Amino acid sequence: MSDGDKQLKVPLPDASFYARQEDMSNLDRLEKLSHDHPVNILVTGGQGCGKSSLVRQFAAFYGRPMATFQVGLLVESGQLFGQQRLKNGDTYYHSFLFPRAIRTAGCVVHLEEINRSETPHALNELFSVLSEDRNIWIDELGLVETAPQVIFFATMNEGEEFSGTDRLDAALRDRFYRVHLDGLPAVVERKVLIQKAGIDEDAAGRLMRVISVLRNNKQMGIKVSIRHSLMMAKLMAQSASLREALIYSLQVSKDTLESLLLTAHVETGEWETDSNGYRPYLA
Ligand SMILES: Nc1ncnc2c1ncn2[C@@H]1O[C@H](COP(=O)(O)OP(=O)(O)OP(=O)(O)O)[C@@H](O)[C@H]1O
Ligand SMILES: [Mg+2]
Repeated sequence: MSDGDKQLKVPLPDASFYARQEDMSNLDRLEKLSHDHPVNILVTGGQGCGKSSLVRQFAAFYGRPMATFQVGLLVESGQLFGQQRLKNGDTYYHSFLFPRAIRTAGCVVHLEEINRSETPHALNELFSVLSEDRNIWIDELGLVETAPQVIFFATMNEGEEFSGTDRLDAALRDRFYRVHLDGLPAVVERKVLIQKAGIDEDAAGRLMRVISVLRNNKQMGIKVSIRHSLMMAKLMAQSASLREALIYSLQVSKDTLESLLLTAHVETGEWETDSNGYRPYLA
């Protein structure tokens, strides 16, 4: 299926997605504003903290169609709109999903990794559609006007670990309202693990204890996102021990893990290291 044939769909609701009441109230205000004014919203936060999910759940909640574009992959201007193609020796212009999305009333247009495009040129057209008058002239398409109530959401990683090179151009940042996600409180994240991975309360509690130790230990420099804690919980739901879930998810040495577990005071079971633990893969 080519990009231009993709459907614009309202995303499915996720009953296990949690957000701050305050953020939801503010998003509601912005949704209302979007009925009369152009609204662009920048969602920032560390990796895997729920930025894309928030955009999806916003669209689901308001019954808006949504399309996501990886701005981080763009290398030249014009790439979002379409390209020249060849058919039976003739060239023709193939229009992509982006112009269709911005011409669809009420569409949520999600620009992922807006701070990571390969070259600044790639963002040229975005400046035009994100501005007050919200339209752009594309030679092959004519005047492309953004439909009423379209909301542009941009997401970008902006945690303490991200360097200055990833910072968003000031002129671009100036066009956005902003929502910053800090990650969930441990008790809420525990609920997410239980609901999404299907592990029991006890397993979720033990996992969250280790994760809290990791997150509080800045020296170790291990980032555990919600995505990552879910990955571990899913392994545990497949009967992995806590120790196995940690070893197969985190990039830590066995020694580091041992001292970590000691600090967290959690029982994780033994780790097989002697020859008894080996057998032919295909046996
Ligand atoms: N607040 C939350 N409630 C429930 N699940 C969450 C929450 N935040 C993140 N998740 C889960 O964590 C995973 C990662 O979320 P998501 O892809 O939205 O993060 P992201 O911030 O966009 O990541 P990236 O930085 O890689 O773009 C998803 O499976 C999502 O369902
Ligand atoms: Mg994302």
